[in-house]
Amino acid sequence: MTAAIEADGVGKRYGSLVALDGLTFSAHPGEVLGLLGPNGAGKTTCIRVLTAILPASAGRFAVAGVPGDRPEELRRRVGVLPENAGYPRRQTGEEYLRYHARLYGHSRASACAVARELLAGVGLAGRARWSIGSYSRGMRQRLGIARALVNDPRVVFFDEPTLGLDPAGQRDVLAQLGTLASERGVAVLLSTHLLDEVEQHCSRVLILNRGRLVADDTVAEVARWAAAPRRGRIEVAPDDALAAAVRLACSPAVAQVRQDDARPGALQVELAPWANANEVIAALLDAGVLLRAFELEGARLSDAFLAMTKAA
Ligand SMILES: Nc1ncnc2c1ncn2[C@@H]1O[C@H](COP(=O)(O)OP(=O)(O)OP(=O)(O)O)[C@@H](O)[C@H]1O
Ligand SMILES: [Mg+2]
Repeated sequence: MTAAIEADGVGKRYGSLVALDGLTFSAHPGEVLGLLGPNGAGKTTCIRVLTAILPASAGRFAVAGVPGDRPEELRRRVGVLPENAGYPRRQTGEEYLRYHARLYGHSRASACAVARELLAGVGLAGRARWSIGSYSRGMRQRLGIARALVNDPRVVFFDEPTLGLDPAGQRDVLAQLGTLASERGVAVLLSTHLLDEVEQHCSRVLILNRGRLVADDTVAEVARWAAAPRRGRIEVAPDDALAAAVRLACSPAVAQVRQDDARPGALQVELAPWANANEVIAALLDAGVLLRAFELEGARLSDAFLAMTKAA
């Protein structure tokens, strides 16, 4: 299986500013990859370089099997929703998509069919004959998503696709991206600030911070790495509480433990960064303490994101 995106040491400078530094990752067909990072981290730059809109300053990459040094071919093979797309205000949505379909070699009749199908797919069928100037911001965003798909790309790059969409629109767009990936094997790179979006829809997540990749793993793994402390509630027999508290206090997996005065046998624990909940359970079992309940507050992607991108 060839990778849909392969980046090896990709860098981008704007004058003296290093916007991307040694970016190395790959994405496979059918994968939805979340691209996270604070403002100015380099997400848009990454998308512009990988879609051959801007030349890289360093490194090598290939997208949909086309190497980065063949920019025209690469641009024809990918779909992109740019950060700031401009649209002709006087054209109707249908004319706009028909025009782009023609650019990609569709006949007049098939360009019409493609335009209608794409407009319906993004919920704009009822506005097909309206001028783009009359569209709301969210409608223009939907049109941009439709345009990104006009060449039936195998790899798509969406720069904040749900920006400006209402909740139903966000859900529809994300569901559409999921379908593209799962049913048609399209690789999707999705840049967003909405961590819930990544948690719910992405198989993997890349976190950029000041141009450097600080995480590249499954959402669950990245969340597990969260340096932010996680808390849990443990319940043992009241007679075991003291022994359990002492054992936990000695365990490297536990940062803090405290007995709940109001409830005999209940303990609050704070896990050490990077510690695994299993280590806590193992520590108690080793001490011969019978566990009645153990609830760990779920580690969230947001913990990991904040921990990995905090200012130096
Ligand atoms: N055309 C440009 N000329 C000079 N510097 C630029 C240019 N475009 C981006 N930069 C700088 O490169 C860095 C990365 O910007 P980029 O737009 O890629 O960030 P981003 O992660 O997309 O941020 P946001 O979340 O705000 O969209 C920033 O420091 C930005 O100021
Ligand atoms: Mg951006």
